[in-house]
Amino acid sequence: MLESMDVRAQTLDELRTRTSVKWRSYPADVLPLFVAEHDFPLAEPVADALHACIRRSDTGYSSGGPELPEAFAGFALSRWGWQVDPAHVRSTADVSMGIVECLRGLIEPGDRVVITPPVYPPFFELVREAGGVVAEAPLLEDAEGWHLDLTAIEDAFAAGAKAMVLCNPHNPLGHPHDRSELEALAAIAERHGATVVSDEIHAPLTHRDARFVPFLTVSEAAREHGISITSASKAFNLAGLKCAVMVTASPRMRAIIEGMYQEVFWRTSHLGVHASIAAFQHGSEWLDGLLASLEENRALLSRLIHQKLPGVGFREPRASYLAWLDVRRLQLGDEPARHLLTRARVALGAGRDFGVQGTGFVRLNFGCSPEVLTDAVDRIAAATIGTYDRH
Ligand SMILES: Cc1ncc(COP(=O)(O)O)c(C=O)c1O
Repeated sequence: MLESMDVRAQTLDELRTRTSVKWRSYPADVLPLFVAEHDFPLAEPVADALHACIRRSDTGYSSGGPELPEAFAGFALSRWGWQVDPAHVRSTADVSMGIVECLRGLIEPGDRVVITPPVYPPFFELVREAGGVVAEAPLLEDAEGWHLDLTAIEDAFAAGAKAMVLCNPHNPLGHPHDRSELEALAAIAERHGATVVSDEIHAPLTHRDARFVPFLTVSEAAREHGISITSASKAFNLAGLKCAVMVTASPRMRAIIEGMYQEVFWRTSHLGVHASIAAFQHGSEWLDGLLASLEENRALLSRLIHQKLPGVGFREPRASYLAWLDVRRLQLGDEPARHLLTRARVALGAGRDFGVQGTGFVRLNFGCSPEVLTDAVDRIAAATIGTYDRH
């Protein structure tokens, strides 16, 4: 196998010159491992594309041309064997906006929309923003891992829920859903005339020992009843550049996208389009290097938890850079993330924000250097000495 490109996280001194929310929310003595931004430098092709735009003073509105759909289709084919028709790809500012606008076209105010907690906290709000009401079908966990609760989802559709927002790979678990479960989900959606809006923003970050299955590839039912929304923004750290793609594979679903107000497309950032094209067309080698570093961090985190935080429950993720830690045995009270911020000076995602199922959990972002990750675990271990029985 070819050696992957060496992609290493920046140092804390470099990172503290950044001005994004990750670096402006806490004082300098706090390690910020909360929001899903990573600490790696921009991929060179992306940086070059952005510099070229600036050199040309090319900062107007996006033309909505075919380049981004074609670049995404090329990326989807080479990474996942997914044949996307570029004519069925439209852009908007971000994945969240794409979810809201799709739901607006799919539901009437007051309709229920299924989500699968513990899940990315804004899903609760995005459903409301679109006029819907959240219906929860929590994920199930067994010895092998996580599963969709297909019975609960079907019950919710049978009771009138019109749509579901699927998170694949799932945040905060880093779990790429299984093909057979996705097939079953598509069949259930078809049976009840519901639609699956599949948030696939973490898909490019699927680890190399796992497989991401795009929802629209699993069956005809999925193509008739599914819309995929994704972007280059998690993998290439481009959240501030505001560009995402909405993908369909049937006239029925395409009509939902084409029925949106034109403004939805105009909100796409021109710089975001250029950065995304560069990432999709020329970023694969860098992405493989990033994945190699994230997989090393994943293994490091497992070792550190085993050695220094043996009471913490942790299932290794198979996608992205988010670790879902069960800290209930540490006995840190109702708000463990707050406790660890105060005592360990490490900022983590509060599990409760991901749904009631997240009570007693925290989410740790390991998209950082091994040094920062080690320091974070050391700090947590030092701050929790004596809070629990380690045996
Ligand atoms: C599952 C998921 N969806 C959506 C988003 C937000 O994406 P965007 O900034 O494109 O709205 C995130 C950000 O972390 C995420 O994890």
